[in-house]
Amino acid sequence: MKTLVILSSILGDRSNSKQLADHLINRVKASNPAAAIKVRDIGAQPIPYFDGNTAGALFTPADARNVDQQRLVEMSDALVAELMDADRIVFAVPVYNFNMPAQFKSYLDHLARAGVTFRYTPEGVPEGLVKGKQVFVLTARGGKAEGTPSDTMTPYLRQMLAFLGMTDVTFIAAEGMAMGEVAALEGMAQAKQRIDALLPAAQQDSLAA
Ligand SMILES: Cc1cc2nc3c(=O)[nH]c(=O)nc-3n(C[C@H](O)[C@H](O)[C@H](O)COP(=O)(O)O)c2cc1C
Repeated sequence: MKTLVILSSILGDRSNSKQLADHLINRVKASNPAAAIKVRDIGAQPIPYFDGNTAGALFTPADARNVDQQRLVEMSDALVAELMDADRIVFAVPVYNFNMPAQFKSYLDHLARAGVTFRYTPEGVPEGLVKGKQVFVLTARGGKAEGTPSDTMTPYLRQMLAFLGMTDVTFIAAEGMAMGEVAALEGMAQAKQRIDALLPAAQQDSLAA
C-alpha cells in the first residue's frame, strides 16, 4: 500500500494542514513502519505555474517539442506517474481566500491530461483514469464553513477529483484555526480524531498487507 502526500500550504512548519498530514503519516507508520510514503511539498517547492508555455508544450506532438517543452512535459509526466503509482493519496489543502492555494490549482491543472488522466468515450462522456485510489483531503481554515455555501472549495475538489476518476474521497477539515486558541485546539483535535477513526489499527493492518 503506497501513500502519496501532497502538501500545499505556504506557511511551512506552522501549517495546520501539514499538521493533519503529519498526524495521518504517523498513524500509517505506527501500524506499518515499512509503509511506502512519498511526500511532495508544493508550498515549499512550487511547481511551475500552469501557463501558456505549459499548455503549449502539452499540446505539441512529442517529436516536435523543443527542449523547454520536453522539460515541462516531463515534469507533468512525473506528477501523473507518482499519482498513478499510489494506492492512497493525501491532499493537504489549506483554505486561502475561500478556496485552495494557487499552487494546488496549478498542480491539478498539470494533472488533468486528456488521454492520460481522463478521456472522453466515443459518446462524449468523460471518464476519469485515476481509478482505485483511497483519497483524503485534509484541509484547514481560519473560520468555520464546513457544510455551508461559504465552503466553495469542497464542491470544486469533489468534482475535479471525480472527473479524474477519484471517487473514494474523504474530506477532513480542521476548522476555527483563527478563532482563538481554544477553538483552534478543539478544531485540530476533532480533525485528528476523524483521521484516527478512519484509519484504525485493524484497518491499517489489512491495508498494509
Ligand atoms: C492568505 C490567506 C488567506 C486566508 N483566507 C481564508 C479564508 O478565506 N477563509 C478562512 O476560513 N480562513 C482563511 N485563512 C486562514 C487559513 O485557512 C488558516 O490559517 C489555515 O490554517 C491555513 O492552512 P495552513 O495552516 O495549512 O496553511 C487564510 C489565511 C491566509 C494566510
